[in-house]
Amino acid sequence: MPHTIVVETPAHAAQIEGVLDRAFGPGRFAKTSERVRERGARHDLALSRVALNEAGNVIGVCRIYAAHAGGALLFLGPLAVDPRAQAAGLGLAMVQACVAACRAGGGSAIVLVGAERFFRPAGFTLADANRLTLPGPVDASRFLWLELRPGGLDKLHGVIGASAR
Ligand SMILES: CC(C)(COP(=O)(O)OP(=O)(O)OC[C@H]1O[C@@H](n2cnc3c(N)ncnc32)[C@H](O)[C@@H]1OP(=O)(O)O)[C@@H](O)C(=O)NCCC(=O)NCCS
Repeated sequence: MPHTIVVETPAHAAQIEGVLDRAFGPGRFAKTSERVRERGARHDLALSRVALNEAGNVIGVCRIYAAHAGGALLFLGPLAVDPRAQAAGLGLAMVQACVAACRAGGGSAIVLVGAERFFRPAGFTLADANRLTLPGPVDASRFLWLELRPGGLDKLHGVIGASAR
């Protein structure tokens, strides 16, 4: 299915909700990642990406939040592709677009909760769960990070929450 990946804008919000509901189902708000967002992490539209189909409708989303834990970090998620458009490379393409935007924007590191096998091609590895924790239970084998520049992980420690203002 032909698609384009663009910067998220407020105009995409309603269609994004539909994609998230269809991709995640009712468990969507129970995730520990949701606690990071509730703790005041700031949604960064300029670093977030949506995938549009030929008709211009949203078929995928990858959101980036500005968060903090000892130092500034970027939190990736939710990532979702409409079930009808899955397994065509869209999920990974959106992640790679977000990683490039975060790096170009001067970010130090990206943290997320997800399948290591899926995120490995974009450069993510297992995070050090002794240094960095999430505000809720998380399977350590799904707690991943990516350093965006040398030393980008050095300051990170503690519970991930809102970015310092
Ligand atoms: C996970 C999700 C975003 C992947 O998007 P997608 O467009 O279907 O994935 P891609 O086509 O880019 O897949 C790239 C590779 O990752 C693999 N992959 C896809 N989903 C995976 C998963 N959940 N676990 C491990 N590997 C996965 C694919 O098999 C593919 O590998 P291959 O190239 O060797 O075949 C999508 O399936 C989805 O929305 N799922 C429901 C919501 C969800 O679980 N979000 C992720 C939370 S972190």
